[in-house]
Amino acid sequence: MGMAANPITAVVLLLLSILAAPPPVSAKLKTTTISFNTFTFSDPLKVNPPATISNDALQVTPDTGNTAAASSLLANQSGRILFDTPFQLWEGKNDTFSDRVASFNASFLVNIFRLKDSPTPGEGLTFVVAPDLNLPLNSSGEYLGLTNATTDGNASNQILAVELDTFQEDFDPDANHVGLNINSVRSNKTTSLTPLLVGPNQTANFFNVWVQYDGVKKVIYGPFISAFTSPCRKMLWTNLWSLNLIQCVHGRAV
Ligand SMILES: *[C@@H]1O[C@H](CO)[C@@H](O)[C@H](O)[C@H]1NC(C)=O
Ligand SMILES: *[C@@H]1O[C@H](CO)[C@@H](O)[C@H](O)[C@H]1NC(C)=O
Ligand SMILES: *[C@@H]1O[C@H](CO)[C@@H](O)[C@H](O)[C@H]1NC(C)=O
Ligand SMILES: *[C@@H]1O[C@H](CO)[C@@H](O)[C@H](O)[C@H]1NC(C)=O
Ligand SMILES: *[C@@H]1O[C@H](CO)[C@@H](O)[C@H](O)[C@H]1NC(C)=O
Ligand SMILES: *[C@@H]1O[C@H](CO)[C@@H](O)[C@H](O)[C@H]1NC(C)=O
Ligand SMILES: *[C@@H]1O[C@H](CO)[C@@H](O)[C@H](O)[C@H]1NC(C)=O
Ligand SMILES: *[C@@H]1O[C@H](CO)[C@@H](O)[C@H](O)[C@H]1NC(C)=O
Repeated sequence: MGMAANPITAVVLLLLSILAAPPPVSAKLKTTTISFNTFTFSDPLKVNPPATISNDALQVTPDTGNTAAASSLLANQSGRILFDTPFQLWEGKNDTFSDRVASFNASFLVNIFRLKDSPTPGEGLTFVVAPDLNLPLNSSGEYLGLTNATTDGNASNQILAVELDTFQEDFDPDANHVGLNINSVRSNKTTSLTPLLVGPNQTANFFNVWVQYDGVKKVIYGPFISAFTSPCRKMLWTNLWSLNLIQCVHGRAV
């Protein structure tokens, strides 16, 4: 699990907890909790350049946008940062008797905004569950560091992502939405964030994002989003989407 993205200034702090589902048969359960206050290269993360860790934050694409000229450096980039240890997300024989599917919670703080001098906004940022750190060639732009023109939609990708999408492609509902993506940048579900003003703006905007997966009920909750500055961290909106991890990701993934 980790982050994948296409150019956008992104500052991410991540908290994750994984819990194997209560088993139908007695078996070992393990809970892993990983939390980060600020990020450094000594954290248990794998970073695929041009992604980097800088200013205490994960920067999935370079953050060089302080001058107009820098906007060209930001173009056509994608990157990926994952945990360095894979998790067992499910096991069993893909039947209702033997299946055990892990639950997980991830929450992160994101700073997402459009640079003043940037002619085009970045495409977005995702929270991703993927088999490996490999970034497909030409996965910038609409491909969000997840897929490319050849691999998009192929079930062998084994990718599950929650996108924060800030650019409208012809298959997108708008230029500021959240989506659930399975093996493709064409989302299975989307919800507009425009009413919440989460998206592109020329001011730094911090938001908390939560993604929760319940391996027993096989539903993904959220993402939930709240303004960082909100003292009560009110959930602005919630969603509940049915999703069986067995049908979309490898048993072991990061
Ligand atoms: C995820 O968070 C929810 C709400 O805080 C909690 O009820 C649930 O037990 C958590 N699950 C895990 C696997 O930590
Ligand atoms: C980015 O890619 C597009 C389309 O392939 C190309 O037209 C453009 O020149 C590229 N920009 C940079 C800065 O490489
Ligand atoms: C997509 O990625 C795969 C794997 O990296 C690569 O073999 C393929 O050529 C890429 N397709 C394009 C259009 O770049
Ligand atoms: C794909 O990536 C390769 C290697 O970076 C590059 O030479 C090629 O032009 C890219 N193709 C497209 C369609 O962007
Ligand atoms: C999907 O990817 C697999 C593995 O790379 C490949 O063998 C297969 O041909 C691809 N399917 C399609 C429809 O492109
Ligand atoms: C939604 O997800 C499934 C995989 O469970 C996939 O086969 C399907 O193509 C997706 N639908 C859309 C509209 O992307
Ligand atoms: C940009 O952010 C400011 C401060 O949060 C807000 O007042 C303004 O409405 C936002 N503008 C747009 C276009 O989202
Ligand atoms: C599990 O079974 C479902 C339904 O038959 C199938 O779509 C899915 O690909 C299977 N998953 C694995 C990992 O075999």
